[in-house]
Amino acid sequence: MTATTLTGIIGGTGLTRLEGLALTEDRFIETPYGAPSAPLQLGHYAGHPVVFLARHGQDHRLAPHQVNYRANIWALHSLGARRIIAVAAVGGIHPALGPASLAVPDQIIDYTWGRAHSFSAEGHVLHADCTEPYDRDLRAALIGGAAAAGVAVLPQGVYAVTQGPRLETAAEVRKLRAEGCDMVGMTAMPEAALARELDLAYATLAVSVNWAAGLGPAGSDIHGDIADSLERGMAQVRAVLGAVLGG
Ligand code: HPA
Repeated sequence: MTATTLTGIIGGTGLTRLEGLALTEDRFIETPYGAPSAPLQLGHYAGHPVVFLARHGQDHRLAPHQVNYRANIWALHSLGARRIIAVAAVGGIHPALGPASLAVPDQIIDYTWGRAHSFSAEGHVLHADCTEPYDRDLRAALIGGAAAAGVAVLPQGVYAVTQGPRLETAAEVRKLRAEGCDMVGMTAMPEAALARELDLAYATLAVSVNWAAGLGPAGSDIHGDIADSLERGMAQVRAVLGAVLGG
């Protein structure tokens, strides 16, 4: 990626602030769809111009179904970001996605409902091509950055997007696995589709913070390890971002 391209970074759970961001400005923006989750933070990360947005708000007050995805994506686009790296906490379904492991998913199955999920307006209907919901080049950059940083990532996988905010039942996770899902989170849709509608390159760096329901060791508490896994996972995320943006 060229040194002058503004890159949007959407931080999820565990990444409401981007440590290492040399902040130049907080931008409070109104969009035709309302206000984004938080002020957009313009600055540099690893020497590269970035605009950072905390998906759930700076104090993590918004549940996944309450996030104004349209305002978020619109705001990033309006500031000139043309590619977005979305960081997202997930539950691991694939055997390689235990807590604190990373993945760069290549597919999505959307199980959400009732979210404002399109910029389509009457008389202007958009049918975004989501055959490949993630941008191929940006995914390759994330995978290459991880290799350069010595961070292991699962280089593909299907991200199941559930409505939340509750976690899944064990039977739901068995169904997701049978349907081909490798990880489960709550935010990839409509975020990815909205980015596609505005022709933004979008890719996700997913961080497993727990085994999905029913897949952890017998008797384990799904919340038990989340804080520790988040911390370890996010340290790896920062290393990958540094390699992608600084490299
Ligand atoms: N399910 C859905 N979303 C999540 C999970 C999970 O187990 N962990 C983190 N985000």
